[in-house]
Amino acid sequence: MRYSESTIEDIRMGNDIIDIIGKYTRLSKSGDRYMGLCPFHNESTPSFSVSADKQLYHCFGCGASGNVISFVMQKENYDFVETIKYLADRIHYELPEENYERDYAEKVRVKDILYEIHKKAARHFYDNLNSDMGAHARRYLDGREIIKAVRNKYGIGYAEGKNDIYNFLKKEGYEDDIIEKSGLVVPDKNGGFRDKFYDRVMFPIFDIRGRIVAFGGRTLEEGKKTAKYLNSPETPIFSKSYNLYSINYARASGMKEFILVEGYMDVISLYQNGFCNAVAALGTAFNDNHAGVLKKYANSVIILFDSDEAGTKAALNAINVLVKNGIKAKVLQVKDAKDPDEYLKKFGREAFAQLLKTAKSYVLFQIESKKKKYDMSDMTQKIDFTKEAAKMIKNFDSEIEREVYIEETSKMSGVSKEAIGDEVKKLSDNTLLNMNQKRYMKEKYKTNISGVDDARQSLLYIMATNRNIYNNLREYIKKEELMEDIYIKLFDMIKEKYKSGEEIYPAELVSCFENIDEQNTISKIFMLRYEFNDIASSEKAVNDQVKLIKKVYYESILAGNDDIGTVQKIIKEKNNLEKLHISLRNES
Ligand code: UTP
Ligand code: MN
Repeated sequence: MRYSESTIEDIRMGNDIIDIIGKYTRLSKSGDRYMGLCPFHNESTPSFSVSADKQLYHCFGCGASGNVISFVMQKENYDFVETIKYLADRIHYELPEENYERDYAEKVRVKDILYEIHKKAARHFYDNLNSDMGAHARRYLDGREIIKAVRNKYGIGYAEGKNDIYNFLKKEGYEDDIIEKSGLVVPDKNGGFRDKFYDRVMFPIFDIRGRIVAFGGRTLEEGKKTAKYLNSPETPIFSKSYNLYSINYARASGMKEFILVEGYMDVISLYQNGFCNAVAALGTAFNDNHAGVLKKYANSVIILFDSDEAGTKAALNAINVLVKNGIKAKVLQVKDAKDPDEYLKKFGREAFAQLLKTAKSYVLFQIESKKKKYDMSDMTQKIDFTKEAAKMIKNFDSEIEREVYIEETSKMSGVSKEAIGDEVKKLSDNTLLNMNQKRYMKEKYKTNISGVDDARQSLLYIMATNRNIYNNLREYIKKEELMEDIYIKLFDMIKEKYKSGEEIYPAELVSCFENIDEQNTISKIFMLRYEFNDIASSEKAVNDQVKLIKKVYYESILAGNDDIGTVQKIIKEKNNLEKLHISLRNES
């Protein structure tokens, strides 16, 4: 933690969870909770619940859970410190500077300077473009028909190269080491620096919050040996495997379906024609990190890559990544143009809007691309293709989808629908068997394990919410019996709180865990457990839980121990378990 616990707690308590979440989704009161449509997944009936008492939220649909801090972190894509700053600012809370760890503060300082450098550099490139030195770059942009408003929106500029940006940044007072960190310069042979971008049109790259974090530069020397596009290197504020170009504008469009294109010019062209929901992964293949970012704002994607072989290959890769990450994928390729940018110029916005509607299911695209690898006039190859297609089709549970794809495959191959259908069925019978087997194993594993997991969670819940029960229980539970680090830590925290006579706030405990998954688990413990009505049923539940927890713990020791002394001792304790009875009726 970079801030003291009490600071974090002040800020958490100052920001009411109902207020904050109410800004993202409409909440209405229902019993002792508020309900609304989940801001983390798409739904039409509310399964998102927020507790004002506990200051926690939980979605029964997607499992998202946490307190006001984890909510803002995830919704705004802030890191922890940014979230604290934001929430502190909201309630005019003065954050103590000295609570930063020194190296952390240093990192933040470097990042802040880099943001500033990028902003100033972008301004400088923009001024270059509009001065004498930018005349040929302006002509180039005119030739590409980018209108002035869009040039400004995307902050397009011009880098002369040589020492222009280096000299500018020096004049602004920056030291060599931070200028080098920005990636805008590279070391030269004489121990000095030269500009990285030479005679290029400059495209600032924005992060989700619209801060400039890098640049892409397009060469003006068509046909030369230099790379057509040059991007900033990885820096403390830029990672190309996470960044999607124009994600800030796509998000602002409010649309839940994004268009994924290949290049800068595609995005910009689309924007100019009123399609503000396009993004591009720049200079790198679309990957899981990109999908993770995208998923926060969109639930469906139209892949629209260049219609060449590289574009097709990249589209097949993007399909895999999107589907794996639970994002709906459709595919489109432009005809009679090399990319969307060229298509828009040739055929206009209306034609493009029509084209978008014809985006096809990714499966059909996969099958069609497979087909290109086979010589369909050769009998055996045709059979092989049809079998391959059947393999892909069998992955669908829905009969309707299967039928559509079977029909298409039949058209492509000339093999009858019935024959393909039989093949699909044969293949899926096999996999169904596998699937059932796997499901069975998983369930078996889960009932063993999750039974005890539930017991641990329930017990921690009841101890955290009832001091009297805790007092009755504590001598019976050793923390190592909880076995998992997260529960042991929670148990220790509960103990500390009671010892120091402090009150326990569930949402406070949540913020003591740094990682989002842990916060999620802790928050679920408090949102999903309900208190028992009377002492008798609590007593029974607690005894069952303690016994199960201990039993699993003893078994784990026995499983991994050869020392006869220990084994005997544990077996004895295990046998004593039956006699264990904890009474909760002692008032303390
Ligand atoms: P393209 O070559 O299709 O770019 O590469 P484009 O946008 O159509 O180029 P124009 O229209 O000729 O200006 C697609 C994307 O791949 C990355 C860039 O992000 C580019 O927009 N790329 C391409 C590079 O990073 N480096 C390169 O040398 C080429
Ligand atoms: Mn292109």
